Amino acid sequence: MSILVTGGAGFIGSNFVLDWLAQSDELVINLDKLTYAGNLENLQSLDCDHRHVFVQGDIGDSELAANLLAKHQPRAVINFAAESHVDRSIHGPEDFIQTNIVGTFRLLEAVRAYWGDLQGEAKQAFRFLHVSTDEVYGSLGKEDPAFTETYRYEPNSPYSASKAASDHLVRAYHHTYGLPVLTTNCSNNYGPYHFPEKLIPLMIVNALAGKPLPVYGDGQQIRDWLYVKDHCSAIRRVLDAGRVGEVYNVGGWNEKPNLEIVHTVCALLDELSPRVDGKPYKEQITYVADRPGHDRRYAIDARKLESELAWKPAETFETGIRRTVQWYLENQAWVKNVTSGAYKQWVGKHYGDA
Ligand code: NAD
Ligand code: DAU
Repeated sequence: MSILVTGGAGFIGSNFVLDWLAQSDELVINLDKLTYAGNLENLQSLDCDHRHVFVQGDIGDSELAANLLAKHQPRAVINFAAESHVDRSIHGPEDFIQTNIVGTFRLLEAVRAYWGDLQGEAKQAFRFLHVSTDEVYGSLGKEDPAFTETYRYEPNSPYSASKAASDHLVRAYHHTYGLPVLTTNCSNNYGPYHFPEKLIPLMIVNALAGKPLPVYGDGQQIRDWLYVKDHCSAIRRVLDAGRVGEVYNVGGWNEKPNLEIVHTVCALLDELSPRVDGKPYKEQITYVADRPGHDRRYAIDARKLESELAWKPAETFETGIRRTVQWYLENQAWVKNVTSGAYKQWVGKHYGDA
């Protein structure tokens, strides 16, 4: 038995692959293009592990996808592969359209052909699980109830619009062709191997480097944070027991304004790795221009997943963020490698000299 994971060298995908193989001997075929966000160093502990087969390639490469499916006969495909950073989608949406929409479409086509040829139990048991985001639902007002699975789609950035399009394609392939799909829409993840273009790792890395901590606008935008390993356990649970064609929202009931997140990171660093001058890291906070079209608030209502599939996160925000800061402190070599080269160009382009 095997599963095919796409985007398994990225932040969530690599955590998923590592967790999967820590709990099971089932082969993982990992198809990843290795864009700037893909990093085989995340999977270094699997070097020489025959249960992990890495293939560098694009989900939009129909022939490659068809060959991998035919060769390995996976019982499931889990689609993490995407362009994932909102700010990059604002600077240049093209890659988001190509991977998130065209790539997902081509992957669905390859999977549809493969699944169509399966017989009996293999056909019954097959699943295509699409990993999506809460951003497809748009932005909430302060008092609005959290997003349920039936909330209307109202994506506001090129990133979220491209993810919304991919969700619609996945839905349509179930409705029209009967493809056995599952979709998860998750809130903001954080944890090990998070690329430091995103808020939490950027703040940790910049703080330790003595650089400004750039807070967009007034810092009062709210995100709903989930430790990455809890997202992975939710995906495993949905894959095992989710109802075909259904959508499951995944979240940790941890709504927090960005400024509070930055203060928490600073306080943990003050405790675990104090500045040599004894001053608090929060002195490095700087307010910068807001993100265009910045969504004000996301919040996930995860009751469907909790009640139908008895899933619960293992970490509170307090335990998860402490683990995360500790991980970055203990993995400075990883940080050094990912913050060289192309990363510097991105930071220069987006933040100026920040
Ligand atoms: P990431 O940017 O860290 O990783 C994406 C991975 O996909 C990289 O390894 C990259 O090389 C690979 N990839 C990109 N284009 C590809 C292509 N055309 N073919 C094959 N591989 C390709 O992203 P992430 O944060 O790990 O997110 C994974 C998925 O989860 C995405 O679909 C994202 O939309 C979704 N998601 C992310 C979050 C979050 O907070 N990070 C929350 C909810 C949902
Ligand atoms: O909600 C799920 C989404 O979470 C995922 O679908 C995306 O792939 C993932 O990147 C993330 O999107 P966000 O835009 O919410 O994450 P980001 O870490 O980029 O930003 C979090 C918040 O912090 C957001 O309100 C913008 C703000 N921010 C971000 C950066 C990078 C800052 O204030 N300063 C910064 O430098």
